[in-house]
Amino acid sequence: MAARGIADLDLQGRRVFIRVDFNVPLTPAGGVSDATRIRESLPTINHAIERGARVVLASHLGRPKGRARPDLSLLPVAAYLAEALGRDVVLADEPAGDGAKKVVNDLRDGGVAMLENLRFSPGEEANDETFARGLATYADVYVNDAFATAHRAHASTAGMVKYVASKGMGFLLEREVKMLGKLVGEVERPFVAVIGGTKVADKIGLLENLLGRADVVCLGGAMANTFLSAQGVGMGRSLVEPSKLPIARAFLAKAESSGGRIILPRDLVVAEDARAEAGTVVPATCVPDGQAAFDIGPESVAEMSGVLSRARTVFWNGPMGVFESPAFAAGTLGVAKAMASVMGGTTVVGGGDLAAAVERAGVTPSITHVSTGGGASLEFIEGKKLPGLAALES
Ligand code: 3PG
Repeated sequence: MAARGIADLDLQGRRVFIRVDFNVPLTPAGGVSDATRIRESLPTINHAIERGARVVLASHLGRPKGRARPDLSLLPVAAYLAEALGRDVVLADEPAGDGAKKVVNDLRDGGVAMLENLRFSPGEEANDETFARGLATYADVYVNDAFATAHRAHASTAGMVKYVASKGMGFLLEREVKMLGKLVGEVERPFVAVIGGTKVADKIGLLENLLGRADVVCLGGAMANTFLSAQGVGMGRSLVEPSKLPIARAFLAKAESSGGRIILPRDLVVAEDARAEAGTVVPATCVPDGQAAFDIGPESVAEMSGVLSRARTVFWNGPMGVFESPAFAAGTLGVAKAMASVMGGTTVVGGGDLAAAVERAGVTPSITHVSTGGGASLEFIEGKKLPGLAALES
């Protein structure tokens, strides 16, 4: 059965449990430093409030590994949300138990409560039945708006759903499925994928999948170091994953034999360490011994931009370098600008950190869709069934 949307659910006077992904970065002082995910779920929350629901929000924050950690409390998130909604958000002092139950029971129509960080309980990540059943007792209606966690089979995304009769997708989740769905199956060509970030292991499944589907795959970020190294290029002190060299070699060989076009960086920005105030541009084949690559160079940006200017469909996941530092931001910002120049096609950016990069490049309005999910968008594009979505379909 296809998942329903929140607009089709009866919410009036009912306890509507909304699984959101408010796993947002915090400032050192404990404030919310990037509220994109919170803002993106506001339409769903406001809709439930306007329909007279008793709203129960639930999220994880960070990876507290099953125990309460004050530094990972959802308190700053609840405060931000209260401000954004212009109404009280009552935070329970635990994800489940008597305290949480009371907060839920005290809700009035149109009121908003939030459970404390779900991962304070070991039952959440273990998808424990008892914990899942406990969460389900707070819900007459279950809504999932946490696309970024939909690839996790946890109690709040999967286990509890079967215990709630009425369920569906929030607006954020619906939009993600619709927009990322444009990259699965038939796509308008040329289809170009730009894949960066640090870890080969996280993305090799996606790369193999893209090999047969994308017309061009551009590689950047620290991950590209391992592929350059697999070609026999000396990478100095750059981050290379030696254990992944065989996988990288096999991938490049497969690409060559299948005629898949892979673009690796031609030049790199190197320095002694990532805290350097400036880097030096060198050919990718000439990384000096004592130096490491922290960004792709201008020739690489120009080559990738040329490919992107002719693309009709683009998927981008993972930065091209350490873009948080101005010395190593040009590659990532350059690719963001090139994506924005794709005319009339579909451009999709996946991953929380890239949302910030696209914003910094000032091109967010020119991108068709900036996904709130990193790992989830990768798995979706790979064609995997996400447990959070599957649970809504049964
Ligand atoms: C994310 O930020 O990618 C999601 O919130 C999932 O977090 P996790 O990788 O800790 O499960």
